[in-house]
Amino acid sequence: MSAHRAFPIPATLIPGDGIGPEVTAATLKVLDALGAPFAWDIQHAGMTGIERCGDALPQTTLASIRNTHLALKGPLTTPIGGGFRSANVRLREAFALYANLRPVHTIVPGRYENIDIVLVRENLGGLYVAHEHYIPLGDDPHGVAVLTGMNTREGCRRIARYAFDYAVRNGRKKITVVHKANVLKALTGIFLETAHEVARDYEGKVAIDDRIVDACAMQLVLNPWQFDMLLCTNLFGDILSDELAGLVGGLGLAPGANLGADAAIFEAVHGSAPDIAGRGIANPVSQMLAAGLMLEHVGAGELARQLERAIRQTLNDDNVRTPDLGGHASTATFTDALVARLG
Ligand code: NAI
Ligand code: MG
Repeated sequence: MSAHRAFPIPATLIPGDGIGPEVTAATLKVLDALGAPFAWDIQHAGMTGIERCGDALPQTTLASIRNTHLALKGPLTTPIGGGFRSANVRLREAFALYANLRPVHTIVPGRYENIDIVLVRENLGGLYVAHEHYIPLGDDPHGVAVLTGMNTREGCRRIARYAFDYAVRNGRKKITVVHKANVLKALTGIFLETAHEVARDYEGKVAIDDRIVDACAMQLVLNPWQFDMLLCTNLFGDILSDELAGLVGGLGLAPGANLGADAAIFEAVHGSAPDIAGRGIANPVSQMLAAGLMLEHVGAGELARQLERAIRQTLNDDNVRTPDLGGHASTATFTDALVARLG
């Protein structure tokens, strides 16, 4: 998108559940201070969607995103085991958001220094298609649980192309394909094979290698610097992106983007954190960095860089940090300090 598109830019805002409204309010404050160009249409989803509209993904929310093609979303609570289907997964499907971009880099010096890894996750297929059912066994009507996953060759090609094009645009040199094709030979084999096919078109520009997911998880702990970009199936990408967050100081510092041809939804990697919700201590930086990715997406990359600079100064120079980063600041105190840095 061009840097010269008409301002303000209409965008959907979903505050979300749990700590979602807390980190979203903090993010709005900072975006205001930055002079970010968004005109928000506030909508609901998740538990809040059910409470307010009787649906975890209300029609009005879908209609808003259909209109704006752009959203900033807080985390949505999904019941474990039974209950309704994940509104996050439904949103990705509804707008064919096939690419999940999850970059991490060191902002706060910690256990690891100089981490800089971009994870690209296939966002629509794999085991998260979640065609599940029970089969009776003996007296137990739920004696056996069955799950079917699905990857299409076209879907694998599309996400591999997205990853390689991203690498070219952003000066990345190597993509590591993460799979389990030794066991899940078809489901993840097709992903691995297709990525290697696509890689031929980028020879000399972007290198490709691959790792079996369990070994990759271990190597990320031992020597994360060997990785530049990771290209993952849906489930493995979900798991490894939380691991990547751990390398840079936790879920408080990890943003993500869900991207399709026709819409883009930006969010933190973390969930609704019910254990700390309502206490005013959530780290809003992930949601703010997600807003930064959104600024880049609309051609306002300079504002995104200004935001990240101010975040670094607040965390490292002012030493104002929320408890997850070892500090004592509340969400509000941190946000005020950040706004002061922007002023
Ligand atoms: P979670 O990411 O919400 O929390 C995991 C741990 O990290 C908790 O101890 C939490 O307090 C901490 N944490 C997360 N974000 C934080 C932040 N910004 N500041 C400080 N600490 C933070 O994962 P959990 O507990 O497994 O899931 C809770 C709910 O969130 C579930 O209903 C799940 O389905 C949903 N979820 C939603 C996502 C989304 O909307 N994109 C993503 C992941 C989970
Ligand atoms: Mg996750």
